Amino acid sequence: MSTVIQAKKLGKTSGKHQAAKSILSDIDLAIAKGEFLCVMGPSGSGKTTLLHLLAGLEKPTSGEISLGGKLFSQASSREVTRWRRDEIGQVFQFFNLMPNLTLRENVALPLAIAGKAPHEHEHRVDTLLRRLNLLERAEALPHELSGGEMQRASIARALCGEQPILLCDEPTGNLSQQAGLEVMQILQKLAKDDNKSILLVTHNPRDAAFADRVLFLVDGKLAPHAELIGPDLSVEDIHKSLASLNI
Ligand SMILES: Nc1ncnc2c1ncn2[C@@H]1O[C@H](COP(=O)(O)OP(=O)(O)OP(=O)(O)O)[C@@H](O)[C@H]1O
Ligand SMILES: [Mg+2]
Repeated sequence: MSTVIQAKKLGKTSGKHQAAKSILSDIDLAIAKGEFLCVMGPSGSGKTTLLHLLAGLEKPTSGEISLGGKLFSQASSREVTRWRRDEIGQVFQFFNLMPNLTLRENVALPLAIAGKAPHEHEHRVDTLLRRLNLLERAEALPHELSGGEMQRASIARALCGEQPILLCDEPTGNLSQQAGLEVMQILQKLAKDDNKSILLVTHNPRDAAFADRVLFLVDGKLAPHAELIGPDLSVEDIHKSLASLNI
């Protein structure tokens, strides 16, 4: 399988000199086209920081990220901006929908950001709304939606930009068990049927069981030799790995 995004010896330190604190170190990982990768770790282990580095929102203090074979560090800020727009879609724990825009307008936002006229792409937006079972709620504002609807809208928004990579930060953290299950089934299907490359970070074993592969982040480092390979991972397998890593 072809690698879409790769990190080599990635590290992030906060603060300087004596006050320097390591947040992430020696992170080696690669995500293939159509792969659903999960990185599990407890609170504070560095999951969100890892996503921020891969999304180009923060700069690593060491190591390299390459996207489509090109190194982030050698890209101009204009290229990084373009990558962020064209290659990476993000799904957040708190949905990050614009409160004063309707669900349809929120989903179409990447078109506006890319300088495209949303009315020329109504069909694409409608298809996404239908696919995520949101068509009937299209004119509602975010505060009128359930958590599950808001998260499905944020997935639709990430798909609207047609980016091949989806970075998902605890996407079920604020959802009921049933709504969370639906979101995980959607993500699994997007990797399988649409060839999206998905990186999910979570501390939830039930969510991790949907992935093709699970890695474990402990105190800013990926646990060596602890990788679980799916498909059909069981929640019990994941609990066993967590217990053996004392997390
Ligand atoms: N900008 C920053 N400056 C200093 N420390 C930071 C910064 N961002 C994160 N940290 C610290 O780095 C560590 C990892 O944070 P991060 O948010 O990546 O963890 P996480 O695994 O996403 O946690 P959670 O599950 O609670 O979301 C934490 O100790 C946090 O306090
Ligand atoms: Mg986090």
